[in-house]
Amino acid sequence: MEIEITCLIIILNSLLSNCLFIPKPLPEDARLNFTGLGFKYGHKVEEHSVVSEDGYILTVFRIPGKKKTPVMLTHGIADSSDTFIIRGKRSLAISLADAGYDVWATNTRGNRYARRHVKMDPDKDPSFWDYSFHENGYYDTAATIDYILQTTGEKKLQGIAHSQGTSSHFVLLSMRPEYNDKLKLFVALAPVAYFNNIVPPVSSLAQIGPDLNQLLLNSKIEELVSEKGIERKLIKLICNQGDISYDLCVLLSGFYVSGFDAKRLEPSFLPVILGHYPAATSRKSLLHYDQVYLNKRFALFDYGPMQNMERYGYMVPPDYNLRQVTAKIALIVGNNDNLSRARDAEYLRTLLPNIVQYHVMKEKEWNHIDFIWGNDMPETLFPYIFPLLEKYS
Ligand SMILES: *[C@@H]1O[C@H](CO)[C@@H](O)[C@H](O)[C@H]1NC(C)=O
Ligand SMILES: *[C@@H]1O[C@H](CO)[C@@H](O)[C@H](O)[C@H]1NC(C)=O
Repeated sequence: MEIEITCLIIILNSLLSNCLFIPKPLPEDARLNFTGLGFKYGHKVEEHSVVSEDGYILTVFRIPGKKKTPVMLTHGIADSSDTFIIRGKRSLAISLADAGYDVWATNTRGNRYARRHVKMDPDKDPSFWDYSFHENGYYDTAATIDYILQTTGEKKLQGIAHSQGTSSHFVLLSMRPEYNDKLKLFVALAPVAYFNNIVPPVSSLAQIGPDLNQLLLNSKIEELVSEKGIERKLIKLICNQGDISYDLCVLLSGFYVSGFDAKRLEPSFLPVILGHYPAATSRKSLLHYDQVYLNKRFALFDYGPMQNMERYGYMVPPDYNLRQVTAKIALIVGNNDNLSRARDAEYLRTLLPNIVQYHVMKEKEWNHIDFIWGNDMPETLFPYIFPLLEKYS
């Protein structure tokens, strides 16, 4: 009997140690923050704090460079400044720094580097989470631009943003048009203003968006995909198992929604991503995007007829007036991007008055996340960014 039990334990042990979910330490790049990664890849990083008009405290990372015009990077939904550096030597932030640019990697309210407020406590005040890409642009990006210009003494900077970061730039530049003069150039990677051409599974999720929102409201959940969440821990564990768990990791991480391409997203890179992403967002951020899809309009948040009347003077929220967006803009688009569809970008292109470049990536698998995490960005993507930065410097 005792021998049998010992055998059983030995067998169980060996099964477990070969099992999918035995915790392995995450790779170093999954654990270092922006500053640590900057140092590791050869650059000095400064940490700055920007306070928005409405009291959010945002961390901005700067890699100082010789070139005068600052380059400001803005991340997408549930993401952070880290997204631009986790590819290390092949990342946008390090490639810019290596080329002598003055790089400013920003964070918008709610994520791990911007989960602070002068008055509100994100764990106790639901109103901390009362924001979407609207406030990200109108307050966060505005405050960050002003801070960078003030600190450097420059009059203008160049902006590069991914996904939601592009929506918030379009909000800022249409609602506060004086900011157009503060941008020499804005490069929009996977630009998002319309979801008219999304297809399942993304559109199916968007269809049930209002129900999901009600569910979250009922459960009093305002902060989504937080770092402390149990689902986050589980995904990290799964994604750290190499080839064997690739499909499961990709499924659970939601990369089927964004589109992904295994060639540019190798298994060993997944745990690095999951060390930094997702970095939290708000229920309202998703709901606002859902309204964009359901109403087929790039418009201010819809609070319902009564509150809309009070806030906007109309029963329906007004559109963002993209004609006001007069800054020079480059739109860079992926053919296999299931969130920011090429046809929606084409439509956006017709509405923006000052497009200096419109480029659809030649690689047919190119999708939403290749713009930040693709392993061949220096060869495929950067040749469409760096010459523009030079040209409009
Ligand atoms: C980044 O990590 C370093 C080293 O652990 C730490 O000193 C620093 O405060 C961190 N910065 C931020 C903004 O979290
Ligand atoms: C993206 O959508 C297309 C349909 O337009 C589909 O064929 C493709 O499999 C989707 N990609 C992913 C990763 O879901």
